[in-house]
Amino acid sequence: MATGDIVREQWATRFGFILAAVGSAVGLGNIWRFPFQVGQEGGSAFLLMYFFFILLIGLPAMLVEFTVGRRTALSPIGALREVGGGAWKYVGALFVLIGFVILSYYSVVAGWVLRYFVGSFTGAYMDEPGEYFLDIATGLDAVLFHAAFLAITVGIVAFGIQRGIELAVKLMVPAIIAIMLGLAIYAATLAEVGEAYSYYLSPDVEVLQDDWRSIVPAAAGQAFFTLSLGMGVMITYASYLGEDRNLAEDSGVIIAFDTGIAFLTGLIVFPILFAAGIGAADPGAGAIFVALAGAFAEIQGGTIIGILFFGMFAVAALSSAISLLEVVVSNVIDEYGIDRSTAATAIGGGIFLLGVPVALFADANNEPIMVDLYDILAAEILLVTGGILLMILVGWIYAEQALDELRKGIGDLGALGEVWIWMVRVPVIVVLIVSLYLAVTGYWAFLTTDFADFLGM
Ligand code: PHE
Repeated sequence: MATGDIVREQWATRFGFILAAVGSAVGLGNIWRFPFQVGQEGGSAFLLMYFFFILLIGLPAMLVEFTVGRRTALSPIGALREVGGGAWKYVGALFVLIGFVILSYYSVVAGWVLRYFVGSFTGAYMDEPGEYFLDIATGLDAVLFHAAFLAITVGIVAFGIQRGIELAVKLMVPAIIAIMLGLAIYAATLAEVGEAYSYYLSPDVEVLQDDWRSIVPAAAGQAFFTLSLGMGVMITYASYLGEDRNLAEDSGVIIAFDTGIAFLTGLIVFPILFAAGIGAADPGAGAIFVALAGAFAEIQGGTIIGILFFGMFAVAALSSAISLLEVVVSNVIDEYGIDRSTAATAIGGGIFLLGVPVALFADANNEPIMVDLYDILAAEILLVTGGILLMILVGWIYAEQALDELRKGIGDLGALGEVWIWMVRVPVIVVLIVSLYLAVTGYWAFLTTDFADFLGM
């Protein structure tokens, strides 16, 4: 029960929870960030590492968040206060901060999606796909679309769990999968498909050996980002849950959907980029936009497919943005007893301001420059830090209660329960710490080179 006198809502249906969690997981992380990371980090080598981290880290970490959320029925600050006592509540506060930072640039990228959705009706992006992206990615328009996207997010969160979030996610998942499958089939017919598949799919150990210092933190960051882990989204969503769910099964379903959609995106984007002669070597933050705009210009019925695709893409981004805002809002409600709409609106205003620089500044090539600065910080550093702290807390201090919570809805766990806890205690924490270290050194290098160049230093 929440502190104060607000009664805590619960998901209306069994599937509401899964859908909302899938809705949170599937978003820009799958369709925008994933292909962009694959391109930046050497193709198949990154893909392999990413799959490995989804299983090694993503699954155990998701179970950690679910057990904590359902057991405490509180948002992260309250939950961690109850689980760890004392200073652990500051980790909950860190989660709130992370949500704030991520949503600030997430909403700018989602604004690009909205812009493309609008542009689909007139075919605005079809003539010069590469130029179009650079035109719209920064500037006053980008600020306006950022504001519009955030306003919609605030509106939905203000309505609360059942009427807002649960309703919004119901249609989205099946529709996205259907359109993506269709596009993957189209991409498979392109002449360059062989080259693209081999770039994407044939594991390249040499690249892995040469570049592991950047591939490891990128893959770990992407695993957290795409599964919405490391900042309490899954704690918050599980806090609205009754006791009857099998949390392990639900995690499996959520992860399968999320990974499947990211993988499909790669099957679409790389053949198109190769066919367009752009190739995949570091296609940058515009990769998905440029690739798809090029494709829609080529194919029969491209206008309609463009409308459907960018419409769905916007909804996918929205259902993730909702979860980011919900973490911040529910904490404020639980901690201060402020009413939901006031909290959502005020917080939305702050997030808007933080995102404005991302929407405004471009480098000499007119590429959006701030998005990297925010994105690497958020995914590779902040989420991974949040993850490490939570794994330490649950693995070493709260293990018995977490195991007990996992048993509800499952029954006897056998040895698997122990396997899970020991995974969390040692390998997960060790890999995350290594990856955080690499991320921080990499970020420092970015700040002192590319970013310093931009600042003219
Ligand atoms: N998982 C979301 C996506 O892939 C992003 C997200 C990250 C949402 C962290 C909530 C928390 O787009």
